[in-house]
Amino acid sequence: MELKVNGKVYVLKVAEDTPLLWAIREHLGFTGTKFGCGKGICGACTVLVDGEPTRSCITPISAVRGKNITTIEGIPSSHPIKRAWIELQVPQCGYCQPGQIVEAYALLSKNPRASKEEIVKVMSSHLCRCGTYNRILKAIQRAQQ
Ligand code: FES
Repeated sequence: MELKVNGKVYVLKVAEDTPLLWAIREHLGFTGTKFGCGKGICGACTVLVDGEPTRSCITPISAVRGKNITTIEGIPSSHPIKRAWIELQVPQCGYCQPGQIVEAYALLSKNPRASKEEIVKVMSSHLCRCGTYNRILKAIQRAQQ
């Protein structure tokens, strides 16, 4: 099956019910996307499928046939969201941060002027065991400037 990831087409010989997360990490080597809960709850595995944040741990590759997948590696380092994350030193352990950044990137792509309340609402679907939520909010607001 073909998978289009970060603008490039890859041919994978794996079962169609393989979770997208495993295809991305184990077969294609995009290890920025993380495995957390494996149940669609924590958000660590979030990637974009045709621009929509998607939990790759519960998404079979058959569901993304012909679609554009963007991982954390596909967001340019020069993008304001990544720059803000670094400037404000958001991560503590860092494990959940790729999923957080991908979600924030999608949010600002759709709604560059998202209010604080809108940001908090969207980002509340992501868990951070280090509790970096305030810095995440500040970084998204910094990226809006
Ligand atoms: Fe996919 Fe937690 S690992 S949502």
